[in-house]
Amino acid sequence: MIPTGSARLAGVVGWPVSHSRSPRLHGYWLDRYRIDGLYMPLAVAPRDFETALRALPVLGFKGVNVTVPHKEQACHLVDRIDPWARRVGAVNTITIAADGALTGSNTDGYGFLENLKTSRPDWRAGDGPAVVIGAGGAARAIVAAMAEAGSTEIRLVNRTRKRAEALALALNYDCVSIHDWKTRAAIIGGASVVVNTTVLGMTGKPPLDLALDDLKPDAVVADIVYAPLETPLLAAARARGNPVADGLGMLLHQARPGFKSWFRVEPEVTTQLRDFVAAGPG
Ligand code: ATR
Repeated sequence: MIPTGSARLAGVVGWPVSHSRSPRLHGYWLDRYRIDGLYMPLAVAPRDFETALRALPVLGFKGVNVTVPHKEQACHLVDRIDPWARRVGAVNTITIAADGALTGSNTDGYGFLENLKTSRPDWRAGDGPAVVIGAGGAARAIVAAMAEAGSTEIRLVNRTRKRAEALALALNYDCVSIHDWKTRAAIIGGASVVVNTTVLGMTGKPPLDLALDDLKPDAVVADIVYAPLETPLLAAARARGNPVADGLGMLLHQARPGFKSWFRVEPEVTTQLRDFVAAGPG
């Protein structure tokens, strides 16, 4: 649908932003629900980020997604921040109220859990230990989401142990334990979910070197990497018969709350949407 002069405006702010699949994803929903709206890629350098955020209400935007490298900076620039985003230390969704106030939230953990439920509807955070591999921004959101959802044990393992320790300290949940990188194959024993939050397995990067011999047959294996759609880790898990949750599913689900608040329609994640976003550039 071609936007009119009263189209609702939203977008994604990043640097660079050309790799982002969000315009394709939100564009699909705008079309699907015949909404008078626009969702734009907004390439903004770090030094201009604050100016760009302040301009959004002036330009009439309803809100934006925030992506790399601005997610942490956004925490300090929004007028209000929900407690969840404050804990995670990163904002990926901003909603702009009628008075121009910016509210920051973080939907990455929500997207992760919703996607997990799609691949294994009966999975519950309290079912057994979770293993989180990596200690970057995505790991932080996922650890917090699982802890809040009722995990009693989260085993965190990162190549650089210090970074995992810093993450655990910042989040401050009793259920998180830190493990050495060389023990990663052993600690997946007994786990109900294993998630890769590192860049390993991404196109152009080496695969995550993780032996799955000790993995329970019903444990869910999740990856935040979505290019390729099926990482070597997910392929190995699928070959053993384990349920898997891919990074594209997480990306699609984390987008739902933002779309709903800007365009006032609750969007659905469907197979057609997945295929459309997967087929696009980025
Ligand atoms: P983000 O914040 O977007 O999640 P990041 O901070 O760059 O991204 O985190 C990347 C993750 O991939 C980190 O956990 C990193 O481990 P280190 O903390 O040791 O750097 C992990 N990673 C990247 N390359 C890796 C490699 N070759 N082997 C193991 N882990 C790797």
